[in-house]
Amino acid sequence: MNNQEEKFIKVYPNSEKASLYVAGRIASLIVKKSELGQKTILGLATGATPKLVYKELIRLHQYEGLSFKTVVTFNLDEYYPMQAVDEQSYRSFMNVNLFNQVDMPSENIHIPDGTLNLEAVQAHCALYEKKIQDFGGLDLQLLGIGRTGHIGFNEPGSLVQSTTRLVHLNELTISDAIGDFGGREHVPSQAITMGIKTITQAREIILLALSQRKAEIVQKALEGTVSAAVPATYLQRFKQVEFVLDIEAASQLKGDVDSRI
Ligand code: GLP
Repeated sequence: MNNQEEKFIKVYPNSEKASLYVAGRIASLIVKKSELGQKTILGLATGATPKLVYKELIRLHQYEGLSFKTVVTFNLDEYYPMQAVDEQSYRSFMNVNLFNQVDMPSENIHIPDGTLNLEAVQAHCALYEKKIQDFGGLDLQLLGIGRTGHIGFNEPGSLVQSTTRLVHLNELTISDAIGDFGGREHVPSQAITMGIKTITQAREIILLALSQRKAEIVQKALEGTVSAAVPATYLQRFKQVEFVLDIEAASQLKGDVDSRI
């Protein structure tokens, strides 16, 4: 099935413009909901891709009065096992790249816990799902994309009905992480990730993909047959998804895109 007509794709001339657009979308949502006296429930991603988005959100906080006091966050994933204080943990990544520099109450921050014993993981995952539901679901989920086509750490083979769970990482994902960990032997082989169902229940979803490195997988994810072999293809079936690309990431797309900016 090809739902090309339902996809919304924005292509920006460079990564900075694409990132500023995404940060602006997040900031407007926070302002709009806080004016209504409501919390904003954000699903957040890690990796190189969202760094400029977070940098712009910090700037908006520091210089333009954007407050994160009404923001509640749920991160997509965490390596397993992983100590929160480790430099490579997604907890550390988020602290450095966003949380330490804005006014978000620490109790509003949720990241899967990589420190638990194996026996405790399943209950933790179920509780993570419940907490998202208790907050009324995710208003906006920000996604990157891995070169296996993963979103979060939903590797090839992940089912559309999957929820938060412990998963094994694909070899390509592990090799892409070697630089961060300083050697193959230091990269964890497992992670806790939100599932495809968890992600696709968000009311808005923005998948951000930047650089030539992502061009091949972006073409497969957006224009390929929907299949568990490339989990990001599931997003083609959801109307609340917007794909935000820089010109390099969009360079292998064959079809027309809705908007080139
Ligand atoms: C990791 C994360 C994903 C992220 C992907 C791409 O695997 N679990 O959420 O989208 O990497 O990372 P990068 O943005 O560094 O290319």
